[in-house]
Amino acid sequence: MSVILAIESSCDDTSAAVCVDGVVLSNVIANQTIHQAYGGVVPELASRVHQQNIVPAIQQALINAKVSKNDVDAVAFTRGPGLLGSLLVGVSFAKSFALAKSLPIIEVNHMQAHILAHFIEDPKPTFPFLCLTVSGGHTQIVLVKDYFDMEVIGQTLDDAAGEAMDKTSKILGLPYPGGPLIDKYARQGNPNAYKFPEPQIPGLDFSFSGLKTSILYFIRDNVAINPNFIEDNLADICASVEYRIATILLNKLSKAANEYGIKNVALAGGVSANTGLRQGLLELGEKNGWNCFIPQLQYCTDNAAMIAIAGYYKFLKGNFAEQNIAPLARMPF
Ligand code: KG4
Ligand code: ZN
Repeated sequence: MSVILAIESSCDDTSAAVCVDGVVLSNVIANQTIHQAYGGVVPELASRVHQQNIVPAIQQALINAKVSKNDVDAVAFTRGPGLLGSLLVGVSFAKSFALAKSLPIIEVNHMQAHILAHFIEDPKPTFPFLCLTVSGGHTQIVLVKDYFDMEVIGQTLDDAAGEAMDKTSKILGLPYPGGPLIDKYARQGNPNAYKFPEPQIPGLDFSFSGLKTSILYFIRDNVAINPNFIEDNLADICASVEYRIATILLNKLSKAANEYGIKNVALAGGVSANTGLRQGLLELGEKNGWNCFIPQLQYCTDNAAMIAIAGYYKFLKGNFAEQNIAPLARMPF
């Protein structure tokens, strides 16, 4: 039997989970609301709030899973990529807990864990599959050959898709994080109301910075004519922006699926919570005869359940880390 306690603290969510024999029994997420006042994550504040949240989150995860801290067999934690101060809180807690209980520790790559979230519940994808991994800091198309054998075959050259969502919402005067609000307003809007350009980037790479600038100028020019332009057209603006971001992502995913001849296609990361993107993938999958995999909403945005499942597969291989391990702000696969 394997009881894994997992910790995620890479950005602004403190999360703890317990997984027993590959079955996730609890997944507690403490969101940090303090950043809303600043319109984005303030790293120094994030690490301080992680310090306040981490013990209660872990206690609650153990209680929800009905597991005692004495039953834990290994502690898995996010090593990177992420904010160094935030990561340090999770890594230090994992090491201290493991040292006190003489347990092994397991390092997990946050971006790999987003992909391995597909192995929390059925149906699970079979290898090889393509995963469009879209979060606040990353936009990647990943060829997943095995649990820990992954190759990035396309990625953003500048902003991430989540960043494009968050920056658009900032331009529109909406609070942080903007992605979920763009999603909410887009549901009442017309995705073809406004046309935003699709960047012409060679190969399987992405670019979102030009889109952000075109949205900024579009809003500036229209507000100069009608000061209430945003309020009068919020739903249509959100629907049109969401549609363009989703089509940029899905067009490249289609290209990758054709080039690699792969029909198992998955979404992962915070932006995979987006309704338009989820629907878009399913429609495309139907057209192309793909098997599509989309995680439950709670496993799209940052969570420790995905760290627990990644930790479980490393535990099976006896792949443990040393006590002198340090977090990494940048961490390739
Ligand atoms: O994976 P994640 O929780 O954190 C990182 O690892 O970055 O992703 C966060 C990103 C943010 O940019 C947020 O605005 C976006 O995911 N997001 C969404 C939605 N929910 C979260 N974007 C669009 N629609 C959503 N429903
Ligand atoms: Zn993430």
